[in-house]
Amino acid sequence: MTALEIAIAEKRHGERTILRDVNVALRSGEVVSLVGASGCGKSSLLSIAAGLDTAYRGRVLLDGAPVAGPVDGIGLIFQEPRLFPWLSAAHNIGFGDALDLDRIAALLNEVGLEGRGNALPHRLSGGQAQRVALARGLYRRPRVLLLDEPFSAVDAFTRMQLQDLLLQVARDHRVTVLLVTHDIDEALYLSDRVLLLGDELVEYALPAARPKRRGDAGEADVKAAILQRMQQGGLAQRA
Ligand SMILES: Nc1ncnc2c1ncn2[C@@H]1O[C@H](COP(=O)(O)OP(=O)(O)OP(=O)(O)O)[C@@H](O)[C@H]1O
Ligand SMILES: [Mg+2]
Repeated sequence: MTALEIAIAEKRHGERTILRDVNVALRSGEVVSLVGASGCGKSSLLSIAAGLDTAYRGRVLLDGAPVAGPVDGIGLIFQEPRLFPWLSAAHNIGFGDALDLDRIAALLNEVGLEGRGNALPHRLSGGQAQRVALARGLYRRPRVLLLDEPFSAVDAFTRMQLQDLLLQVARDHRVTVLLVTHDIDEALYLSDRVLLLGDELVEYALPAARPKRRGDAGEADVKAAILQRMQQGGLAQRA
């Protein structure tokens, strides 16, 4: 069953066409990564998918219903946690709603921050702040989580922990995931499919076995194919 359907006929910024004929269908429960050269339009695609950008030709459907603006069914997580500095972790997670304190406590627990609900963001490490952002992304019970390079600002060890946390919460909450990343290894480790955005969208299916092991030998061929295609210039930045 398709959870999210993104069909972009054309996205322009001024005179420039950024995306043309890009179609992505996320099946319910799968984890899909989107990779591609800097500037190829990954964040633009995510903004459209999230309903934040409606100035394009095409459509986005969540469970068959048009997405014409931000909706509870789609959670969004960015490279930086984007927490309100004057609000506690708990208030950041439940921002904009009457606080469901039990749900917030449960989410804090899940992301490994039990009892830290009163902490202000400046008291949290970068990795902890991103855990709060993940809890906030889950608070409204989304069907789909969209993540834009969510782990690229943290150290390698924290990054591995957050990757595993993402897989765990995605499974536990039965959310469908679309992850933008520059890190091919991250894409291979986390995903069921990798989409390479360039002049066209190329799909790489990955072995379904879970749990995966990092650097799985079976995925080395896919990595080589992705890197080769990126080098071929089909993915050169669109000038
Ligand atoms: N608001 C905007 N106005 C004009 N051009 C924009 C705007 N936002 C993005 N662009 C341009 O659109 C293109 C795609 O940008 P986008 O941010 O989607 O790329 P990206 O693939 O996410 O890149 P990166 O990997 O560096 O994050 C870039 O050339 C960028 O300069
Ligand atoms: Mg981007």
